Amino acid sequence: MKKRLGPRELLYPMPAVFVVSAADGEVDVMAVAWIAIAGAKPPSVMMSVRSTRKTLELIERSGEFTVNTPSASMAAQLDFTGIVSGRTVTDKIGEAGLTAIPASVVGVPIIAECPHNLECRVARMLEHGDHTIVIGEIVETHVDESVLDETGGKPLADRIDPLVYIPTVREYRRLGEKVADAYSVGRRYLDGPAF
Ligand SMILES: Cc1cc2nc3c(=O)[nH]c(=O)nc-3n(C[C@H](O)[C@H](O)[C@H](O)COP(=O)(O)O)c2cc1C
Repeated sequence: MKKRLGPRELLYPMPAVFVVSAADGEVDVMAVAWIAIAGAKPPSVMMSVRSTRKTLELIERSGEFTVNTPSASMAAQLDFTGIVSGRTVTDKIGEAGLTAIPASVVGVPIIAECPHNLECRVARMLEHGDHTIVIGEIVETHVDESVLDETGGKPLADRIDPLVYIPTVREYRRLGEKVADAYSVGRRYLDGPAF
């Protein structure tokens, strides 16, 4: 039996990342869970930002932002940036004990402590209800060498140890164990039901 819950913004799993924005000398950071890859050519992200966020104002002014993936050990810092606004705390990055360092291509900083960072330029913005969907082209990617595999080309999720956000219970979790190989385990159904 299924129970109807009505129209609700539920999806599993959700990532939890820092989005840094900056314009005219002002810098802000906020926690974002409503974010995903939007395309490959060009590499792009899409995220949903409520119209009241200081972050949205700065992104509209500069046309740039960075996405910074925290490791699970940074849950408290991520949470802090999700419960206070840059409208009341002017140095959220510093208050969270984080370090802003210059990016390579965009004028918005990246967070040094995050093992994975994306530099993004706004490609388009779409107002939808109380949120604005921001599509950003990824113009550069940074990863800590310590999270790369032995060939040095592939970031390993276990080493990044990213945060997963569970909205219904407002919890942060870690990734679980491997289940199967993607683009592979489903092949058993290619010739019909795999009984
Ligand atoms: C785990 C978590 C995820 C969040 N995800 C989003 C999100 O995807 N979009 C959004 O607009 N706000 C989100 N928020 C709320 C903002 O991070 C929060 O309102 C923040 O204070 C806004 O900061 P700003 O006004 O400095 O931009 C999230 C908060 C938390 C704790």
